[in-house]
Amino acid sequence: MKVGIPKELSKQELRVGATPKTTQRLRKQGFEVFIQKGAGERANYADKEYAEAGATLIDSAEELYKSSDIILKVLAPTNDEIELMHKDQVTLSYLWPAQNPDLLEKLAAKGINSVAMDAIPRISRAQKMDVLSSMANIAGYRAVIEAANYFGRFLNGQITAAGKVPPAKVLVIGAGVAGLASIGAANSLGAIVRAFDTRMEVAEQIESMGAKFLTVDIEEDGATASGYSKVMSKEFIEAEMALFKEQAKEIDIIITTAQIPGRKAPTLILKEHVEEMKPGSVIVDLAASTGGNCELTKDGEVYTTDNGVIILGKLNQLPTQASQLYGNNLCHLLDDMGKAENFKIDMKDDVVSRAMVTYNGEINWPPEPLPVSPQKPKAKETSVEVEPTEADAAKKKAKSTMISLAAIGVFLFLLGKVAPTDFMGHFSVFVLSVFIGWQVIWNVSHSLHTPLMAVTNAISGIIIIGGLLQTQNSLSNPMTIIAFVAILVASINIVGGFFVTHRMLKMFKK
Ligand code: NAI
Repeated sequence: MKVGIPKELSKQELRVGATPKTTQRLRKQGFEVFIQKGAGERANYADKEYAEAGATLIDSAEELYKSSDIILKVLAPTNDEIELMHKDQVTLSYLWPAQNPDLLEKLAAKGINSVAMDAIPRISRAQKMDVLSSMANIAGYRAVIEAANYFGRFLNGQITAAGKVPPAKVLVIGAGVAGLASIGAANSLGAIVRAFDTRMEVAEQIESMGAKFLTVDIEEDGATASGYSKVMSKEFIEAEMALFKEQAKEIDIIITTAQIPGRKAPTLILKEHVEEMKPGSVIVDLAASTGGNCELTKDGEVYTTDNGVIILGKLNQLPTQASQLYGNNLCHLLDDMGKAENFKIDMKDDVVSRAMVTYNGEINWPPEPLPVSPQKPKAKETSVEVEPTEADAAKKKAKSTMISLAAIGVFLFLLGKVAPTDFMGHFSVFVLSVFIGWQVIWNVSHSLHTPLMAVTNAISGIIIIGGLLQTQNSLSNPMTIIAFVAILVASINIVGGFFVTHRMLKMFKK
């Protein structure tokens, strides 16, 4: 199967549908890769690198579209690009289906099977294909870096011989993927970070990233089963704005990320809020392209208001890195669709059926909603089943331990009737050790498994010493064979323990 990567037509778009690294990956998936000459230029990838990765360079877009079965691109296709496509061609790109019904009609009329990468459902399995998350993560980080660039002070507080510098105060509005990335970046640069979101479930995430969660005095939760926020009531938005007005007096940097999928971004920062801010303060509006969270934002522009507040309506896309992550997302989806050999559009698949917005000449939008995590089934009104409490569970466990102990006792008693006394002594110690070992290890919580490994290593060391002491000259002696097996198993345990610990430590190394 042939995969084609065209050059993006818009000069504003710096990303590309595949990088040399993802080209190698596509080749491993069994695809033949065609790329239009100069496609990766704006993302700093040269044609030569694509050729070295195994791609065939194609001169014109016409030729590329004609010879490809699957098209990987970033922006939604333009009318000219749709002209070049052919029936049954599969395209993977952003499409924003809720905002672009006309585009869907054109794609369906042409018989294109188009995947909207922005419509990948938010389920755990699809996280690796989720372009909104991978791009939002970059934008959230970059928002802080650009704000720091325009802001005339350090972000961290300092006490130096030359004087005291207070830390900058950052307010992050909307704590989804981008917002949390901003909180993390601002916090690591030493700023005091506050954050607000309509979804109460993010409070813990905000605090774990080192920010203070701000709230309003209205009992309304924006959380929905889809993972996104709902449109909030007028009262809530007003309360929210009052809170921001208060905050604007002392905040130095505001980063806004609030979005409602398929709709214009909510306007949360008004002219009067900006007027409250100190000269030199910065607002980064990550929702600029969907209408902006700040009333004064100019999409694609950076400008300074009359009172000296700098408002950023555009960010550097970090196209090299963004293309790599975007390309990885596409490769993951192609993996899911069976790679080249077993490529299949499976409309029973939860992810494909929701992201494939035009299929076989039909528009497949809007899809059935899919909850982010399975909801708990509602208890039937007639049944009064009570969830077992922790105390009940402990009681049940103690009962089963007692039964096991009694069974072991009876077994040892019966065995004692027939077995020699010497054997019984050793056997009882063996059985009881197994029982105690099992009880100890089984009851250790998962978070303590690493220290537990150190203990088992120590025990394995004792077993090796015991095994060595029991080894005798004759290899046919059963005692030597058992000692040898004990030494082997204990050694595997120790070496395995070191190997796993080493891998875990590597995860923390930068
Ligand atoms: P988004 O970009 O649509 O919205 C950004 C944030 O703005 C959200 O947290 C939303 O609650 C907030 N917001 C909306 N209206 C607001 C208002 N009036 N005031 C203040 N904040 C407002 O959301 P994003 O970042 O794409 O993800 C939202 C959630 O989806 C994540 O927090 C996560 O729980 C879930 N998710 C799940 C994934 C998965 O399981 N595959 C992948 C990514 C996200």
